[in-house]
Amino acid sequence: MSISDSVRPWESPELTGWRRLPMSAVDRRDGSVLLDGTWRFQLLRSPGAPLAEEWGEAPVPGCWTMHDPHDLPHYTNVRMPFPHRPPLVPEANPTGVYEREAAIPAEWAGRRILLHVGAAESVLIAEVDRRPVGIGKDSHLASDFDITDVVRPGATHTLRLTVVKWSDASHIEDQDQWWHGGITRSVRLCSTDPLYLDDVDVRAGRDGDLRVDCRVRGPLTEGWSVSAGLEGYGELARDTAHDAANREQGRVSDFLGEARLTATVTDARPWSAESPALYGLTVRLHRADGTVADTARQRIGFRTVEIRGRDLLINGDRVLIRGVNRHDFHPLTGRVVTEEDMRADLVTMKRFGFNAVRTSHYPNDPALLRLTDELGLYVVDEADIESHDHAHEIADDPRYLPAFVDRVSRMVLRDKNHPSVVVWSLGNESDYGAHHDAAAAWVRRHDPTRPVQYEGAARTDWASARIAADIACPMYASLDEITAHARSGEQTKPLILCEYSHAMGNSNGTLADHWAEIETTPGLQGGFIWEFRDHGILQRIADGLPAGPGTTGGYADGIAAPGHRWAYGGDFGDSPHDGAFCADGLVLPDRTPKPAMYEHRELAAPVRLSYDGTTATVHNRMHVRDLAWLSAEWQIGAEHRGVRSEPVRLPDLPPGASAPLPLPAALPDDGGELWVTLRVTTARDEPWAPAGTEICAPGIRLRERTAAWPPAAPGGRVETDEEGLLVHPLLTAPPVLSLWRAPTDNDLLGGAARRWSEWGLDTLVRKIVSVTHEGDGRTTTVAEHPTAVGTVVHEQVLTALADGSVLVEETATLPGALHDVARVGSVLETAPGPDSLEWYGPGPWESYPDRSAAGYVSHHRARVDDLFTPYLRPQESGGRNAVRAFSLTRPDGTGLAVRLDAPRQVSVTRHRAADLAAAAHHDELAPRPGCVLHVDAAHRGLGTASCGPDTLPRYLVPTGTHRWAWTLGAADCGGAVAGGGAAQR
Ligand code: GAL
Repeated sequence: MSISDSVRPWESPELTGWRRLPMSAVDRRDGSVLLDGTWRFQLLRSPGAPLAEEWGEAPVPGCWTMHDPHDLPHYTNVRMPFPHRPPLVPEANPTGVYEREAAIPAEWAGRRILLHVGAAESVLIAEVDRRPVGIGKDSHLASDFDITDVVRPGATHTLRLTVVKWSDASHIEDQDQWWHGGITRSVRLCSTDPLYLDDVDVRAGRDGDLRVDCRVRGPLTEGWSVSAGLEGYGELARDTAHDAANREQGRVSDFLGEARLTATVTDARPWSAESPALYGLTVRLHRADGTVADTARQRIGFRTVEIRGRDLLINGDRVLIRGVNRHDFHPLTGRVVTEEDMRADLVTMKRFGFNAVRTSHYPNDPALLRLTDELGLYVVDEADIESHDHAHEIADDPRYLPAFVDRVSRMVLRDKNHPSVVVWSLGNESDYGAHHDAAAAWVRRHDPTRPVQYEGAARTDWASARIAADIACPMYASLDEITAHARSGEQTKPLILCEYSHAMGNSNGTLADHWAEIETTPGLQGGFIWEFRDHGILQRIADGLPAGPGTTGGYADGIAAPGHRWAYGGDFGDSPHDGAFCADGLVLPDRTPKPAMYEHRELAAPVRLSYDGTTATVHNRMHVRDLAWLSAEWQIGAEHRGVRSEPVRLPDLPPGASAPLPLPAALPDDGGELWVTLRVTTARDEPWAPAGTEICAPGIRLRERTAAWPPAAPGGRVETDEEGLLVHPLLTAPPVLSLWRAPTDNDLLGGAARRWSEWGLDTLVRKIVSVTHEGDGRTTTVAEHPTAVGTVVHEQVLTALADGSVLVEETATLPGALHDVARVGSVLETAPGPDSLEWYGPGPWESYPDRSAAGYVSHHRARVDDLFTPYLRPQESGGRNAVRAFSLTRPDGTGLAVRLDAPRQVSVTRHRAADLAAAAHHDELAPRPGCVLHVDAAHRGLGTASCGPDTLPRYLVPTGTHRWAWTLGAADCGGAVAGGGAAQR
């Protein structure tokens, strides 16, 4: 390591690599030798530390932080994990040394031989038989080194890859995620003919114009040529490198090794996210004698991206960007993700209505872009630059200029031929400086076919004319701000939020409000939810170590198996850390969708339904596809009749069109509420969904509720204790007032939870004012609940009804100072036994007042344990919005039944709010044998205040007087959900 000793490449930002080959779009996997597997390994304290005699083993690809107890994962958001200023790093600097033998195929004699390391973080020093062959930086791009001169075909050589964890580059890789060390993508040996295609640059527009530029290297003696063939079309073009015209224009020459092929494919189907038509392109490099020296294969798509006015157009269409931010993450392997993992992520996105992904905040494995091409997702491809903690110093520090341009240009060179890439992003949260302009200028010159964005270039001025900002892409701007901008007359470019609707914990409130504005406000074109997946690492509780690669059975359905938990910042003893802020995804760490995914799916639905009082109309909201790929059935959810399905034929509808849809033939007329839901599924297999996958379930109300309230006449007596509290055989704790919920991450980080504690809502004290027993059997109790800012008066009237149930009528009056509480409602607890909930209302998913677009009104049934969403850090969970009635039963059907005076927020779980609030992880929670029931007159929206706007004022709980009423009876004597037969999935 002689060069490293003197140069200290880990503290030299000017050094972006040494002998690292220029990036290229040519895929060299065919015929390569894959070196993934178990390598010899040792972890040194610092790059200068001597090697030990003894070697251990480590997987490649692999993060040593996921298996070596001496250096565990560390989570920080903005701050660096060490105090050193750029470009310096601590002396204690974990350094992994990977070694193995590699046999060079004998048939590679005479060929050019390359060592390819897919990614290593953060500095890679490569040696062959102890001879340095190159240095690479950028933890998320490959390094290729030409090792022809140091290896012998037919011989076996020792490869050593030394990976230094902390470096000058760490200061520009300060993304909000776990810090790891290791080789995170595949390692290969590749070979080429001495005459080879160094790069191929493809441009294919939606009108079928194809242009292929090749860079040829090697012995450029006269006579070589290049040809291109397209799947289904045969050979399209031979190069014009030798045409006189080209020679005269000096554009191409044998000597420079440049060749351009052009053709027009008149009937090519355009590529789009909806219809990702791909064509196999084969580029061949021929020697002077016509034999083939090299071949590059790539699937290409014909599509055009342009900005016209304030619209981003894809193939001429203003497509709304329903995007999500994605990191490379896996709960067992850290930053190492397989192609299957990537496919599973993208398939999940497609199934939930996403059409775009931002590779936050670094280029992904090339496999991801092959998959987005194939499955159909627009990509904002982002360079590996986030200097967050030292952003201002670095943005104009000339020592870092080469790194900025290198990282952006290498990404563009690698990914330019992917039709799915529609926008280049210069990185994230790195202030704004000359480096950004330099990088943007490089991109403009190299690829004028795609827009460039960088949030920091237009942070305060969304109309900024800066070179790095074709798109206004703010993060977490409020709905008011973006709509005001779009209506101001000052908007000059498309506004597509690079991050919005922070998905931490129980979140994504107001998503529907966002989309209502986006769909109706010219200039607003969508955005990317932050983010796809919770970064909870599976941890063994016994020894505190990551469960690590190869663990099986460590989790299921979003829940860590016994003996394990989902770890977040601080759980590995990491300090400083940012706690659970890394758990802010739409899916749990094992990719189980959170309820917010269904909300998104419904908002993004390709089919919508409307009803004008007589006719139902179906709308095709797609840009390219008709409805032939979908089938549907009506699901009829009558309040008193249970659920029935009826097939329905979707009309032949071109994109953007609408048509009437016949309603189900026989609709019940039982005086209750009547809803019909159109359950839309895939009619045939799609590359991302087998036939029969539910795509959306829009519902319409055909009839309002007319039922009388209360549902039965008074009769009999109610039993109460001396405090006026209900005594009932089905309950272990009678209904009392509740104003609090277990704080969500939004409540905590947005400040509401602190206010609630200061007011004393989490330890509400009940003081009886009066208990009055009326002659007719009614009991009226008035109680006061003092808080730090005023007293809440609660009145509860209990009446026995003739059908055996108890009518509970309540009023709570909140003083003006309690301007934003979590809820106003009743909480009670049932005796053990009931474990199944059936309800009439929206479902089946968890919903809250500001996240309730997905549910369709019907009879739903679920096990109580399945109602609860295991958000990584325990918090308020499991709510159901606008419930009209429910019954909570044992397997034999007995239990309790509740009818509500109006649609109410209800939750049934095994946990008291205080239990949830006291636990940091789920393994600390003991489910109660009975159920904890909340019936709320009002419940606060969720918002997204952990990072971004809180909920909208209309979803806050108002002060003043709240009234609500409900009946409690036995499920086996006139149950709440008359008719039963609930839908269950
Ligand atoms: C943004 C940042 C993301 C993430 C998010 C909060 O500011 O770009 O990387 O930190 O906030 O989770």
